[in-house]
Amino acid sequence: AVNLKGKSFLTLLDFTTDEIRFLIDIAKQVKAEKRTGVVTHRFSGKTLAIIFEKRSTRTRTAFETAFGEEGGHPVFLSKDDIHLGVKEDLEDTARVLGRMFDAIAFRGFKQETAETLANWSGIPVYNGLTDLYHPTQILADFMTIEEHFGTLRGRKLVYMGDSRNNVANSLMIGSAKMGLHYVACGPRELWPSEDLISKCRELAKATGAKITVSDNPEEAVKEADAIYTDVWASMGEEEKLKERIALLKPYQVNQTLMDATGRPDTIFLHCLPAVKGNEVTREVIEGPMSRVFEEAENRKHTIKAVMIATLL
Ligand code: CP
Ligand code: NVA
Repeated sequence: AVNLKGKSFLTLLDFTTDEIRFLIDIAKQVKAEKRTGVVTHRFSGKTLAIIFEKRSTRTRTAFETAFGEEGGHPVFLSKDDIHLGVKEDLEDTARVLGRMFDAIAFRGFKQETAETLANWSGIPVYNGLTDLYHPTQILADFMTIEEHFGTLRGRKLVYMGDSRNNVANSLMIGSAKMGLHYVACGPRELWPSEDLISKCRELAKATGAKITVSDNPEEAVKEADAIYTDVWASMGEEEKLKERIALLKPYQVNQTLMDATGRPDTIFLHCLPAVKGNEVTREVIEGPMSRVFEEAENRKHTIKAVMIATLL
């Protein structure tokens, strides 16, 4: 049986296929409860620190409302509110937080910061996005794919654009773990690292997943179940935007590319926030195959699932 109690959620690399399955199943259950108006107080008497170095709409509100509506007390702390890596060692901050809170949600730059918080606080730490990974996002993405198609295994998921950003890295790992056919499509300079590709291909052997990379959008999207994209410059690399626009223009998700799948039922996904007119056209994101708001809602249910699995 799966038991995640006390565990941190820092990268999908730390979770088995069964554990990821377990989390998505809990998310479906809590979503159904929410729909039927069942009220539960699973986190009654518990506290959550939400420590964010970067901005957030979905992730912050998902953690805050999911924890609060289960009777817990979430405390949002931006980097300007606490001594995070300034005036005190991060290890000391972590040890103090571990005595105040039951869990920590962290968003920031370095994956290492999330790891240090986890190692020194002694309580579960949830990665709400770092430069390297965005693991909670992928739970919501997979839940959305499964809600639409009924299964995950063997589904073809094509990521277009900056294929080595946090979201793309985590999608590739998640796909390897859950048996999807993942295609990273973008210019070679922005392909995932060789190291992560080989790690994922190794994982894929056990699940039947397929991990491929491409720089040809029309080829890549053939028979795709889902096309996914994200911003061309992530938080912290805004100065690269001009060069990225030039580099990534051929990888824009527009109606012509959606049609190139050769299927009428390919869905469009985006973690949001989106820059309409850059990585995706208004026509596609506002179109009938877009599932971006279901996906955004599922952030809350999946994040609640992670907290239920690790705290109760
Ligand atoms: N998708 C996502 O993480 O959005 P936020 O930056 O609004 O949290
Ligand atoms: N890659 C984006 C994701 C935002 C949710 C970023 O890091 O800014």
